[in-house]
Amino acid sequence: MENNNNPLLDQLLISPNIYSDPYPIYHQLREEDPVHWSDAWGCWVLTRYADVVAVLRDYRRFTNVGRIASFLNQLPENVRAEIRPLYDNFTVGMPNTDPPEHTRVRGLVNKAFTARVVEGMRPRVQEIVNELLDLVESSGRLEAIGDFAYPLPAIVIAETLGVPATDRDQFKKWSDDIVAFHGTGRPHVETIRKSAAALLETKAWLLQLIEARRQQPQDDLISALVAAEERGDMLNETELVATCITLLTAGHETTTGLIGNGLLALLRHPQQLQKLKEEPVLIGAAVEEFLRFDTSFLRAWRLTAEDVELGGKRIPKGQTLSLMLGAANRDPAQFAHPDRLDITRQPNLHTSFGWGIHFCAGAPLARREAEIAFTTLLRRFPTLTLVEEGVEWQQNNTFHNLKTLPVIIASGH
Ligand code: HEM
Repeated sequence: MENNNNPLLDQLLISPNIYSDPYPIYHQLREEDPVHWSDAWGCWVLTRYADVVAVLRDYRRFTNVGRIASFLNQLPENVRAEIRPLYDNFTVGMPNTDPPEHTRVRGLVNKAFTARVVEGMRPRVQEIVNELLDLVESSGRLEAIGDFAYPLPAIVIAETLGVPATDRDQFKKWSDDIVAFHGTGRPHVETIRKSAAALLETKAWLLQLIEARRQQPQDDLISALVAAEERGDMLNETELVATCITLLTAGHETTTGLIGNGLLALLRHPQQLQKLKEEPVLIGAAVEEFLRFDTSFLRAWRLTAEDVELGGKRIPKGQTLSLMLGAANRDPAQFAHPDRLDITRQPNLHTSFGWGIHFCAGAPLARREAEIAFTTLLRRFPTLTLVEEGVEWQQNNTFHNLKTLPVIIASGH
């Protein structure tokens, strides 16, 4: 068994091209070293569909407990002491626990996002989509991220939880800063300090909001979680705060990416765009294909809970695995012509919402938001044209999101 690091592949993982188009790099990794030890990222990088799914399904051998601590432990002692809030927050709540803790919290949150509850949110989502498009209609132009793909999920998750509209921009800023530390290969001290500071501010703000709901419950998710906490056996206060933070952060950036990356893919494939316009019933399958073709959440993490063997490599207990969801989605062993956008693709068992017990809790909501967003956009503006030179990507190797996506929505502008 060989565990040799291949420095040339590592160069690719830190090359700037990985931000705009990671797929040629993923293909090369999958072909040359599908279970790759990366010195540059300080973890194992898995790019085969079969390996990624096998790890996600097996929570006993591949744990969520301690993954963030293991990442942060690479920092010098003095910085680690400074960023204690990150350690504290990222040891509780759904993404950082295994059963039975995970099962308890997840059971509460599942109730908030069942297909029936999400169906009930449809009229409000439609209203928000209409209002956002009304605002830009007369200008003939849409900056599809800032004007549309960002505000839609941010408003929806804020209203679902019960965040006042006046606090929305502030929470977006905190949320961006909190998750930023996930986006570098090895830990980056300044980014991490910023994440820890944002986390402290968010916690203070949330505790006030929680107290207000305790005094006066409303018809929102924070009130429901507070009620669960007050019953005593379901959720303690640290879990309550961590769960709100998870929902606020997980609930919008990824969906912004689904709408933004999906729209870009569609505009770059005019035949597929035409097909969707002619057959709007394809929207469900189209959204699944947008998720597969260019997911906004490129990788998940697990720690090995015991010594394991993967792809002929021996991996000791306690090591970090980076599960490249974006690479799994383009694996030719699973998807025919994986680099082709095909909005009729069947079956389409992509990994973009994960797999197994941590499968995305917000998937029904994200799917519904995207369906309504695309259907309305194409119906109201049948002549969408991409301004290719304005397309700009964020520099992050976990969240694969556009900074800007300018589109002309009406001819003559
Ligand atoms: C297109 C949009 C979205 C994508 C691509 C996405 C992706 C994912 C993925 C891949 C996971 C599993 C991570 C892992 O196994 O380590 C996950 C988990 C999760 N997602 Fe999403 N997500 C999206 C939207 C949302 C929304 C809208 C919400 C909330 C309203 C949400 C809440 C969660 C939560 C709470 C978890 C943790 C579940 C657990 O650990 O049991 N996500 N998401």
